[in-house]
Amino acid sequence: MSLFNQLVSRTIMHIPAPVVRFFAKGYIAGERLEDAVRVSRELNGRGIMTTIDVLGEFITTLDQAENFKRECLGILDTIDREKLDANLSLKPSQMGLLLDREQALANIREIVARAADLGNFVRIDMEDISCTDATLDFYRALREEFPGHVGVVLQAYLRRTPADVAALADAPMNFRLCKGIYNEPRTAAWKNQETINRSFVHILEKMLAAGAYVGIATHDEKLVFEAMRLVDEQGLKPEQYEFQMLLGVDEELRDIIVAAGHRLRVYVPYGESWLPYSRRRLKENPSIAEHALRQMLNM
Ligand code: FDA
Repeated sequence: MSLFNQLVSRTIMHIPAPVVRFFAKGYIAGERLEDAVRVSRELNGRGIMTTIDVLGEFITTLDQAENFKRECLGILDTIDREKLDANLSLKPSQMGLLLDREQALANIREIVARAADLGNFVRIDMEDISCTDATLDFYRALREEFPGHVGVVLQAYLRRTPADVAALADAPMNFRLCKGIYNEPRTAAWKNQETINRSFVHILEKMLAAGAYVGIATHDEKLVFEAMRLVDEQGLKPEQYEFQMLLGVDEELRDIIVAAGHRLRVYVPYGESWLPYSRRRLKENPSIAEHALRQMLNM
């Protein structure tokens, strides 16, 4: 990691909001749902699907959860009205998981029920390990009630993930597989990048072999290659899986995936809570700041 990147990573929590906004603006659609609609429409026009996410997590009151639930219902209605090729991603903590588990499930249930009515789909994001068990329980309950309208995220860095896949294999499965973004203890998560990559491929192979629909969420060229190899080996049709990437990240790789005939979905976040999301992205990948700075200075 360059000195500049180390500096960004270490000081990110103290960098003033306007500076973070400057570096992160390409990774967020904007503050309002209409921004996410505009970005989704542009991407749809290029043959790319989206998943819309309203930013906000680890809330402190159930009123906030109620507001996020209403926002999510509004997103689903808007996708339907605007005829977008888009679905919804949400975070269980945003729905109140860490405040009142039953209420959080009720909130998510209402959203998935609306998605089912509209013929759409809800992806439940995966947060840190304080949320894993409950999130998987919610997924299990909701897929039984609304089959085909809900999926969950699994993280390749967690040692438990292969066992979670096996435990969920008693009904059709719909996963997003990603490396995992939270700072987990070594007892729970692989720490070495090479190990995490091997785990990703190992789990992806198991998921595809078990007939799961997988959103293969990575910008790592090695993993994209491995995923293409696996779908080819298993003779899967393009509608049996999809690649997924974050808005604003490695658009060249995005185009390569689409040009090769694979389906791709971009995660389109919007909302007023852009600061924690942006800080997380910058901490995870300080080279974002370096790229933006180079562009600004025309280097
Ligand atoms: P890696 O981090 O090795 O990145 C590969 C290359 O991609 C880097 O060298 C860099 O060039 C580029 N890159 C990666 N991330 C970038 C970024 N943010 N900005 C600019 N360049 C970047 N995690 C989680 O714990 N729960 C979840 O629910 C989700 N959901 C989710 C949805 C989608 C659609 C994606 C793509 C990712 C997630 N993640 C997530 C995040 C995921 O766990 C992981 O942290 C990031 O995708 C980065 O991992 P990569 O596989 O891209 O590899």
